[in-house]
Amino acid sequence: MSKIFELGFKRAKGEFSFNQLPVTGKIPEWLEGTLFRNGPGTFTVGNETYRHLFDGLAMLHKFTIKNGQVSYANKFLQCDAYDEAMKTGRIQYSEYATDPSRSITGKVFAVFDQRITDSAKVNIEKIGAKYLALGETSEQVEFDPNTLDTLGRYHYEEKYKQHITTVHPQFDFSQNMVYQLVTRFSRVSHYRFVRIAPNGKIHVVGEIPVSKPAYMHSFGMSSKYLILTEFPFVVQPLSLLFQIRPFIENFKWKPKKGTTITIMDRGSGKVVSKLKTDAFFAFHHVNAFEIGDELVFDINGYPDTGIINAFYLDKLKDKRSEIPFGDLRRYRIDLKTKKIRMELLSDENLELSNFDYRRFNLDGDYQYIYAVGLNEQKRAGFYNQLVKIDIKKHSSKNWFKENVFPGEPIFVGKPRRNKEDDGVILSVILDDHAEKSFLLILDAGTFTELATVEIPHPILFGYHGAYFRELF
Ligand SMILES: [Fe+2]
Repeated sequence: MSKIFELGFKRAKGEFSFNQLPVTGKIPEWLEGTLFRNGPGTFTVGNETYRHLFDGLAMLHKFTIKNGQVSYANKFLQCDAYDEAMKTGRIQYSEYATDPSRSITGKVFAVFDQRITDSAKVNIEKIGAKYLALGETSEQVEFDPNTLDTLGRYHYEEKYKQHITTVHPQFDFSQNMVYQLVTRFSRVSHYRFVRIAPNGKIHVVGEIPVSKPAYMHSFGMSSKYLILTEFPFVVQPLSLLFQIRPFIENFKWKPKKGTTITIMDRGSGKVVSKLKTDAFFAFHHVNAFEIGDELVFDINGYPDTGIINAFYLDKLKDKRSEIPFGDLRRYRIDLKTKKIRMELLSDENLELSNFDYRRFNLDGDYQYIYAVGLNEQKRAGFYNQLVKIDIKKHSSKNWFKENVFPGEPIFVGKPRRNKEDDGVILSVILDDHAEKSFLLILDAGTFTELATVEIPHPILFGYHGAYFRELF
């Protein structure tokens, strides 16, 4: 019987540090660097349980690859939400879909008061010289990449510190600038695009007022434009102030509103277009670029927000419930005629899409997207294969094995390569039968195994991570 729920959605076995993990196969000699992963380290505190895949207390993982060997370490993010939970044995901070148990009169709302969760468990990025654990609140946490020790909340300038942010900043490597989208909930709410310089200095690119803000987990960016995809999943800000429900449950699906796409000039901050298209929902923008007068963006789309509901732990535990169908789609916007066209890039059920971001972000000439997917013949209740999509030839390759559950695939390119997919895919895989995880190293070109690295314990399902060529 599958133990996926027990292994992947409960609690990490502990904090460990191992050198020279057992390797099967051969790790390419050129592959030297460190993969960091972020995600929940526990879904329980004392007798209390978080409710949703996007809840839990953050844990960092580190895989350092050198000379064909791999070392591994993991640590909880030592944030206030973690410290207080450990001290009291109870959930103390509101998360995505879980509030601390409090009497109605004692209810405190995390977004409007000072108890904003700092359990930044969704992504990892290096911004300037800082290694940051990123969450959807603006409380993001710096960590030491050598020890995984928590260094404290990162002190952004006030103009960044709005109520929520995306966990997917966009990088313009030619400018050495990072862009982010933050949202403030208020009587007059607004979206704000900011640009972060390597020294942490923040410039406000532009603001868009909004009466009922939408929930957005990412945004698009092309060479000239910032792309705000306002799905019709919106909140009345007052309902956050008088919170009766956990954060995400205040947002309502209003498909009649359609999806509003706002295009902002990255230089001037001027809104150059505001267009409507059919209602849809997405977590992840993939890439965006311009071709003449056309602005193009790729995105992992869903017909509605059923995907959020499917990630409640009681649904994931229920063998009868299935993860809803999504797709990989491309929107083409003619900036002159303001016409939008949508085309399907893949009808495979994909999530956590990645590509060679370093070389091809903002570049329409990219060909390959890597993602986790659902094997249609062998459904197992969670993402159970890795997929490589060739978006030019409309073909795909899969990596599938019975009873294993892959995490986000990260592409690492071979130095001085000529071919886009000359490199490897790194993915942390939960092995249901072995009751532990392993690091998979796939040849990105052929999508076949080069090596696996055994981890002596299971790693809970996480979300995102990052690879750096630095060794830690
Ligand atoms: Fe994400």
